Amino acid sequence: MNEPLPQADLQRSGLFLPPGEMRELTRKAVSRADTRQWSIEELSWGMLRPEALTDTDRSVVRFITFIEDHIPGYLTYFLDAFPVSGEDLSIEEFCFNREYFRFLVSWANEEERHASVLARYQIEAGIRSPEELMRELAEEGRKKFALPYEEPVQAFTYTLVQEKATQLFYQRFKAVAKEPVLRDLLHRLARDEARHFAFYSELIGAYIKRHGLAATVPDLKDVLSTFRMPLADTLNGYWRWSLKVMDATSYDHTEAYDALVRHVKDFATSRGDAAASDLAEFVHRIRSI
Ligand SMILES: [Fe+2]
Ligand SMILES: [Fe+2]
Repeated sequence: MNEPLPQADLQRSGLFLPPGEMRELTRKAVSRADTRQWSIEELSWGMLRPEALTDTDRSVVRFITFIEDHIPGYLTYFLDAFPVSGEDLSIEEFCFNREYFRFLVSWANEEERHASVLARYQIEAGIRSPEELMRELAEEGRKKFALPYEEPVQAFTYTLVQEKATQLFYQRFKAVAKEPVLRDLLHRLARDEARHFAFYSELIGAYIKRHGLAATVPDLKDVLSTFRMPLADTLNGYWRWSLKVMDATSYDHTEAYDALVRHVKDFATSRGDAAASDLAEFVHRIRSI
């Protein structure tokens, strides 16, 4: 798998990782997912106390259900961006995508669980009836999800930041929520998102090791400068809603950028590595706006 490629393929796949390396990364991530599985039935639904929910809690639960319920669109985007069928694919590209596919289906299964458990929560807590929920989720879910990135490393960076942002968000929400089943649920969601973040961190780390910080950091900066949370451009009332949510949970998604900076700094060969400092400075500027 790591044999030298013909020159044309090499140029085209310059920003890919060798499939063998990708296979090892996805193998680890999928096996971590397998050992940390949980099921919706494990939650103590009988202990649910809807009266412990504030109006804001209900609103935040609805908001995150929309986000998690977008998994069909999110997965569709990734399957289009990393195709696993078509004879125009080079063997190298196919093998890379094939390995990534192993992670994608495992990840999508977990995100699907997040969507389903939040939908069940809304119904059990009387936030929405099943019919109302199905309609309003369909209204948003059918909108197309797209990311403006062309390089695989950019799509991976986007997902890394988004996974970290959701992990932080669930932790913050848990810190203020009082309803016990919701707290348990948020704890499980945050743990899963942390694992998704770990996979993308390892993946970006592999890119940095292979291509160097100087070659990778411009792509990372490109993603951070245009970063928006999923559905920011499509969900009805997103901006007003997200401000309320941020306010209620003291959460700010740009905190996730720091996780990327810390990660990148670990790859700096010297303290003054220009590319790592450049990224840190760049994030500092974005965050102070
Ligand atoms: Fe999720
Ligand atoms: Fe996730």
